[in-house]
Amino acid sequence: MKIDRPVEWPFEESTGYLREKFAGKNHDIAVVLGSGLGGFTRHIAEEATLSTADIPGYPRSTVTGHSGRIISARVTDKRVLVFSGRVHYYESASTLDAAVTAMVSHSLGIKTIVLTNAAGILNENFYPGDLMLVKDQLNLTSRDVLADLHFPVVNVDPIYSERMARLMYEASEKAGINLKAGTYVGLTGPSYETPAEVRMYRRLGGDAVGMSTVHEAIFARAAGMDVVGISCLTNYSTGITSEKLSHAEVTEIGARVDNKFSSLLTAFISSL
Ligand code: HPA
Repeated sequence: MKIDRPVEWPFEESTGYLREKFAGKNHDIAVVLGSGLGGFTRHIAEEATLSTADIPGYPRSTVTGHSGRIISARVTDKRVLVFSGRVHYYESASTLDAAVTAMVSHSLGIKTIVLTNAAGILNENFYPGDLMLVKDQLNLTSRDVLADLHFPVVNVDPIYSERMARLMYEASEKAGINLKAGTYVGLTGPSYETPAEVRMYRRLGGDAVGMSTVHEAIFARAAGMDVVGISCLTNYSTGITSEKLSHAEVTEIGARVDNKFSSLLTAFISSL
């Protein structure tokens, strides 16, 4: 899809800096790592690493479990741009900040993006530690990043690439992983859901719930990229069990599924 830019892209300064620092490196794919999933960086061959704090114009992440690094790396024969940590809508109330990974990746000419996240379970057939392929999303943030970019009305269906989803399934079979599939409900956060809200999201058809991904996915799709989503299901969402939910629990489960998650991503990337 060709985009007539109604406004200057935000983050041009950040992109220019990355282009200079990663000069000569053409990335086959971008990967955004969600809360607790930074362990994937131990399974890649890092070639160059930047701290997001050193990148001019790049929004700041303040969340524990998000290291704020952008890494140019090799995974088998592919070159991958890895965002270890992302900025959430609730950190600055900006959809643009929330979608910076996708905007920068697009500006660098990357055509495929894997968005990963930690998410709460809505579907009772799923268990903490499961990985879920995002087949569709419910953007319940009441915001649309494309409005904040002054886009015209645009059809983004399907947001998540069906071709890439097939490749991800094949990769899961190769890696011996039981990959679930479902609909991701994206909220602004930072408060976790109430039991009544969880009942509503289940009735609406949600399988997992989290505080990221939807704006990155919408922007990336509108910009013509192939979008893949993987949720790491870290906990039952509020009210499904009597346990109290905490961010520490979310990052701990993320760390426990590290090997499974990393094998899946590695198998997927090498199959491209
Ligand atoms: N709700 C919202 N976001 C989350 C959850 C949850 O239960 N778990 C991890 N991220």
